[in-house]
Amino acid sequence: MGSIDGQVAFITGAGSGIGRGIAERLAHEGADIAVSDIDVRGAQETAERVRAAGRRAHVVQTNVASERSVNEAIASAVDALGRLDITVANAGIARGGTILDMTVKDWQDQVDVNLTGVFLTVQAAAKRMVDFGRGGRIVCMASLAAELVGQMSWGYSATKAGVRMMVRGWGQELGKFGITVNAIGPGIIETPLAQMLAGREDGPIRKSVEQITPAGRVGRPSDIAGLVAFLVGPDAEFMTGSYIIMDGGLRDARAGMLDDPSDPRAVEAMELIVEEGQRRARLQPLIDER
Ligand SMILES: NC(=O)c1ccc[n+]([C@@H]2O[C@H](COP(=O)([O-])OP(=O)(O)OC[C@H]3O[C@@H](n4cnc5c(N)ncnc54)[C@H](O)[C@@H]3O)[C@@H](O)[C@H]2O)c1
Repeated sequence: MGSIDGQVAFITGAGSGIGRGIAERLAHEGADIAVSDIDVRGAQETAERVRAAGRRAHVVQTNVASERSVNEAIASAVDALGRLDITVANAGIARGGTILDMTVKDWQDQVDVNLTGVFLTVQAAAKRMVDFGRGGRIVCMASLAAELVGQMSWGYSATKAGVRMMVRGWGQELGKFGITVNAIGPGIIETPLAQMLAGREDGPIRKSVEQITPAGRVGRPSDIAGLVAFLVGPDAEFMTGSYIIMDGGLRDARAGMLDDPSDPRAVEAMELIVEEGQRRARLQPLIDER
């Protein structure tokens, strides 16, 4: 018997990568799974894995960017599986581009899926959970990119930073209904979406990521799925509005890349620190004078 035996979980983006890993793990923990994805083929494959774990699976094609589609998907999941205890708003896309090159279409698609999609999924699920009156658990997929930003990834980062903030607001509102809502910030996880970052097994990109990541490897969907299992299980009852990073230590390792004193960037950084110290020594008396 698992920790969430007999519960029902609705998972978006469950036809691939992290969402599929979450579906499999929650099935092993005893939940029946509504496998929601815009890609039915991927969703069906995930459903097979859920059934192989001995649980019921209901495939529901969903476009999370569409209010009608999300509402129909939640209704279909409840009809098929009888209840709704857990929702994972996981579907997401990444559209890179510089400020001079980003198309309005790419910008809008990314906002529609990563922000509006999470909003619509959580709203539809929370309404059902409130109606059922049994509380519930909601997990939203943000990203380490909510903390880090680059000239190609600012749009994606903005949507993921938005998810963090939405979750904090929703946590405040939904507590009185016994519903918790938390966000996860995965680092580099080996999935189709992050292939450019994770690289191929034994390829140069992978080797470099393994080298700079304190945990010594890229993440796996099962890593994130384990964290979701905790957040929807009995031990996380007192946790809501939170955001947890799971990145093998990558966030601070990136900052720590300048720790190598032979790195020319580290040399420059040291010079700048000295300059800043001189400037501060000059200005401090003026500050102290007031
Ligand atoms: N892989 C990583 O390194 C990583 C890191 C941080 C955050 N994330 C986030 O994790 C989540 C899952 O990503 P993944 O890496 O598993 O990617 P993935 O591409 O393997 O899976 C994403 C799934 O979402 C589905 N999807 C896309 N648009 C949709 C829509 N409009 N409606 C419904 N489903 C839709 C896709 O069909 C796909 O099955 C995303 O929110 C992503 O931003 C991933």
